[in-house]
Amino acid sequence: MDDSIFRNALTSLPAAFRDGPPPLAAMLLGSGWNKAADSLEPIACVPYGEIPGFGPATVVGHDGRLVLAATPGGSRVLVFCGRRHWYEGCEWEAVVMPAVLGARLGAKTFLVTNAAGAINRRLSPGDVVILRDHLRLSPLTPLRGPHNPAFGPRFPDQSRVYAPELREELRRAAEACGLETTEGVYALACGPAFETPAEIRAYGILGADVVGMSTVPEAMVASSMGLRVAGLSFVSNMAAGISESRLDGADVVDCAARHAPRMAALVCAFLERLELLERQGSTR
Ligand code: HPA
Repeated sequence: MDDSIFRNALTSLPAAFRDGPPPLAAMLLGSGWNKAADSLEPIACVPYGEIPGFGPATVVGHDGRLVLAATPGGSRVLVFCGRRHWYEGCEWEAVVMPAVLGARLGAKTFLVTNAAGAINRRLSPGDVVILRDHLRLSPLTPLRGPHNPAFGPRFPDQSRVYAPELREELRRAAEACGLETTEGVYALACGPAFETPAEIRAYGILGADVVGMSTVPEAMVASSMGLRVAGLSFVSNMAAGISESRLDGADVVDCAARHAPRMAALVCAFLERLELLERQGSTR
């Protein structure tokens, strides 16, 4: 990855982003998760299109704005509303911009969220899955290329991409807002086509619970750069061949919109947990 792209992006941001205390967390809100931003007090906001190397979000359901916001508890958080995906044809730098800017602006925690198809038949649309691990079943990786230590070691450890202590905090946050969650493994599909039933059967045999077209590149870079990563999937549909229905991107967006208030409540409860831990001085 070209570090000058991230340096330019950083200097393009309004001073409010760089001045003041480091953010409690950086959050990447994918399909359906955007509503969490409404519960926070905006301090500054920049459209992705105005950040060099990022570019406007092109996918329905992805707002494409970076918000510096204050929680009701008075912490600052970086909220990336929407994401860039590899299949949009953009550069890797745009895809992983939230992870790198989050790290460079001082966040120690990175929450990454998405909508996903359920492979595990025990899941149903509307469920929320706390990511325990992922399967990257393709050679796609933002870490390809000459090694730059700014993004972590040449061979970053991947045995704990999703920090166990944050998985526990997500579970507690879900409990606090009366949400049932399970833990699961996310399989990265390249998109933009949905998968075939045969692919989904194969992913299931390999241990995937949910499938989606994002999250893994951002989580890899964030963890490689030393951030603690937490991941959440919202189940918007049963994956190809698991149910008889045909898949349609509009249904994914509709389903996520219907459940948006629950997802927003979970994100806010997680931020409260982080604040509590920070006050107790036991993390970060
Ligand atoms: N497959 C891939 N990505 C997705 C899906 C799916 O079924 N649902 C939401 N994002």
